[in-house]
Amino acid sequence: MVSNVIASQIRTHALYGGVVPELASREHLQNIVPVVRAALEQAGCTFADLDAIAVTEGPGLAGALLVGVMYAKGLAFALNKPLIAVNHLEGHIHAVLLEAKKQEQVLAQPALALVVSGGHTHLYLAEETDGTLQHKTWQYKNIGKTVDDAAGEAFDKVAKLLGMGYPGGPWIDWLAQHGDPRAVPFGPVNVKQKPYRAQQEQSPRFLFSFSGLKTAVLRYVQMHSMAQSIEARRVALANIPDAKPADALPLCDTETLNLIASFQRAVVVDLARKTFAAAETFQSACIVVSGGVAANRELRQHFLAEGRARALPVIFPSLALSTDNAAMIAAAAWPKFVAGEMATATLTAEPSLALG
Ligand code: KG4
Ligand code: ZN
Repeated sequence: MVSNVIASQIRTHALYGGVVPELASREHLQNIVPVVRAALEQAGCTFADLDAIAVTEGPGLAGALLVGVMYAKGLAFALNKPLIAVNHLEGHIHAVLLEAKKQEQVLAQPALALVVSGGHTHLYLAEETDGTLQHKTWQYKNIGKTVDDAAGEAFDKVAKLLGMGYPGGPWIDWLAQHGDPRAVPFGPVNVKQKPYRAQQEQSPRFLFSFSGLKTAVLRYVQMHSMAQSIEARRVALANIPDAKPADALPLCDTETLNLIASFQRAVVVDLARKTFAAAETFQSACIVVSGGVAANRELRQHFLAEGRARALPVIFPSLALSTDNAAMIAAAAWPKFVAGEMATATLTAEPSLALG
């Protein structure tokens, strides 16, 4: 990796407590040219030095994806360079592979990949295809996913519900260290087969559901009359410029900290239980965890400890490559480039593109 420049939109969306699609597209439009220039400058190269242009075709917000796809197509055409289309989820998996390769770590296969972000909670079996070195690409089989909210979405919604900032994951992560995770006994989440008959190719054992947990937190807040203290915290944090999770600590009582820690524990235990069960069922040789939620401290500790107990390697990307970034898209594009899998001029944004 020679450069990886990120234009964060967190400040813009934080004002609204979530991503506003129109603002996301506008910021992409404003940032795309300066970000590409900065990336070339940091890498010490020019457009002429590039082998190919890689771009995310989906899944994601249509407007934001279109900005990237149109710009990349224009660039590839003007420079007469190949264009490569990448699935965002494949990118998250390749963030891990990129770093493993850098450390000359050979990744045992098949790998079980958990992609856990604001938009996804998906389990994939990932394997390199047979073929000559020149024609090896990766193939994926989706074996599990969320039937409602993504795990990151649950972190964001619970944080918002408790009067914290956006995105909620880092707030919950930091504050959970100060609470008792056993204080509120949220039960295990089992997704029943019946309502999801259409998804029979996936065993219900590997399906996730986080909306019930979010509702359980809401119910706890209502039952324990916490609304007033939540509103007071929200107002207090709004008055602190650039408020950080540490600013919320003196604004949280023990009950709130315990609720946060218990919520986080429930999410982490559920993700681990289903991921390790899938690894056993599909005889995976290792587990890779990526996406924004993979930055979570407790999640990392829990998965690593479980992996050690089962002698199953668990691999995470570095924190910088856990959340969305461009290096992971380039990493996923490389095997396609070597295998000659280029996109055509008809490439367009695919907001609900699936993987595997
Ligand atoms: O992968 P990502 O940057 O963007 C998407 O593709 O969604 O993931 C963002 C998500 C947000 O929901 C955010 O709250 C969550 O990742 N996140 C975390 C942490 N850092 C980011 N969730 C839990 N703990 C964290 N430390
Ligand atoms: Zn992502």
